[in-house]
Amino acid sequence: MPAIAIIGAQWGDEGKGKATDLLGSDVDYVVKFNGGNNAGHTVVIPQPDGSSEKYALHLLPSGILTPGVTPVIGNGVVIDLHVLFEEIDGLNARGVDTSLLRVSANAHVIADYNRQLDKTTERFLGSRKIGTTGRGIGPTYADKINRIGIRIQDIFDEKILREKVEGALELKNQILTKIYNRRGFTVDAVVEDLMSYAERLAPMVCDTGLLLNQGLDKDEIVLLEAGQATLLDVDHGTYPFVTSSSATSGGACTGSGIPPMRLGQVIGIVKAYTTRVGEGPFPTELLDESGEFLRQAGFEFGTTTGRPRRCGWYDAVIARYAARVNGVTDFVLTKLDVLTGLEQIPVCVAYDVDGVRHDEMPVNQSDFHHAVPIYEYLPGWTEDVSGARTLADLPANAQAYVKRVEELSGARMSVIGVGPGRHETVVVHDLLGR
Ligand code: GDP
Ligand code: IMO
Ligand code: MG
Repeated sequence: MPAIAIIGAQWGDEGKGKATDLLGSDVDYVVKFNGGNNAGHTVVIPQPDGSSEKYALHLLPSGILTPGVTPVIGNGVVIDLHVLFEEIDGLNARGVDTSLLRVSANAHVIADYNRQLDKTTERFLGSRKIGTTGRGIGPTYADKINRIGIRIQDIFDEKILREKVEGALELKNQILTKIYNRRGFTVDAVVEDLMSYAERLAPMVCDTGLLLNQGLDKDEIVLLEAGQATLLDVDHGTYPFVTSSSATSGGACTGSGIPPMRLGQVIGIVKAYTTRVGEGPFPTELLDESGEFLRQAGFEFGTTTGRPRRCGWYDAVIARYAARVNGVTDFVLTKLDVLTGLEQIPVCVAYDVDGVRHDEMPVNQSDFHHAVPIYEYLPGWTEDVSGARTLADLPANAQAYVKRVEELSGARMSVIGVGPGRHETVVVHDLLGR
């Protein structure tokens, strides 16, 4: 059985957590392959008594909520150990079994100094800031690429750990004290903090690439769940207003140790409109009451930082770009219900850049910064769609909206979200091909 990747097709918060949960009981492994606790996935789980339980996950893969699934934190992830155990303890207190969790020995660790550097650098950048989540993500990936990072396996060898922390702090303390005028960190304190997690961590650590490939050999199903999204990817996103990891389907391979030819399906999650958190270009952004309508109706406030999300109309140029970069085989179109009540719904089909029409992403980022959306206006609907379970249950104009964005977006719309709950979903094509 080939592996399946779930990726974000816009700027994050498309509903990847819900999509993972939908497939949860049919897969054997759910793997987080990139990012860290900058992610925020909200999953709403139905309870036997008809009520629902809401979970907000940051570092753990969403599959941890499905009994029997083996959740895996892959080598491409950066791990804040304090957050890891806080999240595990929080789930255990709510009765969720986390004992199957496996963590890659090669994943990198977010040390205290990197969290401090993330926040301090942002403040130093002033108006040029990225608007990061302040979780130490960028500096930790920078250490990885600079070959001065600390890996999970280092925590089990005090001598090696101490040498590595010493090496890293030699430079970091200079920057913190001499440039940023902050207090430095002592090697002892950092080593002691990281080693304090060793005993609890040890039973979870393994060669996760081997585990997953052996699972695929046995016809087990591996689901790779992205944090962040295509337009936040360090290579394919709106650089420098991106995160520091590979959030696209290529990253699913490098971040898990599963080779590209074992990837059989790429599911792109795309919202029926667009949101973005933090700084950076966003052509269809709405700064008027329509933006406020989407923010309130869609409850667009960050799961991780609580920041109001910037809101705008659906951008088919971006969807096509994401379909191409990731090789999307199926889209899940989420939050269609949020558009209910609008008289007409604009969809961006291309950009106007200084009088020139662009049907694809402009090559030059400066052009993207002042791209003006060219809209097509689709008729809206007023009927409540949350009870729809088949395409035919949707009002004619909602069906037409789905059909038109499908034509424009470069892959079929296989699932449509009509509410946050697991069952508030229209399945057009079964994602596992059943
Ligand atoms: P992720 O980071 O991609 O997992 O997405 P987030 O969890 O940050 O944000 C998506 C939000 O939308 C969550 O609060 C979900 O519960 C919610 N959600 C997902 N799908 C739907 C849907 O189809 N309709 C509505 N109304 N909410 C949805
Ligand atoms: P999920 O997985 C939305 C954004 C931050 C900032 C930029 C860099 O929930 O979709 P970082 O802390 O990663 O260095 O910040 O990326 N960002 C996200 N925006 N959803 C996310 O994750 C995000 N993770 C990071 O707001 O603009
Ligand atoms: Mg999110």
